[in-house]
Amino acid sequence: MQAKSKSVVVTGATSGIGYSVCELLLQNGFKVIGVGRSKENCEAAGKRLIEKCPEGEIVFFYGDMVHRQEVFRIASDIRQHLHESSNDELYALINNAGCVRSKYMTSNEGYEHQFALNHLAGFILTHELLPFLIRAKGRILFTSSASHKMMRMRWKDLMFEKGYNPLLAYKQSKLCNMLFAYSLNEMYRDKGIAAYGVDPGLVNTSIGNKNTGLIVDLVWSIRRRFGVSPDEPAKTYLMLCTADTPPKELYFKSLKPARYSSQVNKENADRLLAISEQLCNIRFGCPKS
Ligand SMILES: NC(=O)c1ccc[n+]([C@@H]2O[C@H](COP(=O)([O-])OP(=O)(O)OC[C@H]3O[C@@H](n4cnc5c(N)ncnc54)[C@H](OP(=O)(O)O)[C@@H]3O)[C@@H](O)[C@H]2O)c1
Repeated sequence: MQAKSKSVVVTGATSGIGYSVCELLLQNGFKVIGVGRSKENCEAAGKRLIEKCPEGEIVFFYGDMVHRQEVFRIASDIRQHLHESSNDELYALINNAGCVRSKYMTSNEGYEHQFALNHLAGFILTHELLPFLIRAKGRILFTSSASHKMMRMRWKDLMFEKGYNPLLAYKQSKLCNMLFAYSLNEMYRDKGIAAYGVDPGLVNTSIGNKNTGLIVDLVWSIRRRFGVSPDEPAKTYLMLCTADTPPKELYFKSLKPARYSSQVNKENADRLLAISEQLCNIRFGCPKS
């Protein structure tokens, strides 16, 4: 697969897994469109990436993707950029930005942070960039997690308003990634789109040290030391972006297909799709029956 001049959007590109994915994509000739939370972190990441890959093409867009309107604004800026520089084509979208919270926090719309960022932000961005992805017969990747396997959807209290359990809210958001990838394959495989969930394993990043309480911060500071470098899972993202024929499986870990939860099924995927559309005020094509 010739990567030259193929554009890829990576969210959460300023640190951890997203940053390593950007670096690997640049080394392999992709044009990278990074998305981050703050101007400062985007500028710092962009500078480091260009120092490492002086020939690489990278541009950053930033905003707090917890908030729905910010995601729409970023998407609109990316669409304009793709129009001007990439022939209205997007080869891959990597929905990777994510957070961990230890207390109940909400977006401007009143949506719980982990649900809003880990699921809805990628949901909106995918919708807004879909025509560009379809033109390129593109791939859509979600950073999920093995923790999705220990969770069922809480349909009666999706955002944990009645008693917040941060760990369950996180696991559910990673199950949402799998369910949405499942829906995208159902709806758009015949248009050449392929969607995947990636389990990066335990990775040594600072996710549990950002905007979390003292205890989570301390526990994660110890736990992360047992994690692999983000350069390890980045190889799986590259493989999924470069495979000549898009793999048929839904879920990947360490370059190979992996088993996923039986909760990842059509009934749950359809239900999540309908609720998310309503929450975001957008509409995907009707899933095939
Ligand atoms: N680390 C692991 O062991 C592990 C395991 C399974 C799955 N994951 C998943 O991997 C993904 C990446 O996490 P990571 O471990 O690489 O952590 P990380 O280093 O903290 O990366 C998270 C990225 O998302 C960005 N981000 C955070 N809040 C944002 C917001 N409100 N708006 C826009 N961007 C925002 C961060 O930007 P700032 O730094 O500027 O906030 C950063 O670029 C997440 O989806 C996570 O759930 C991680």
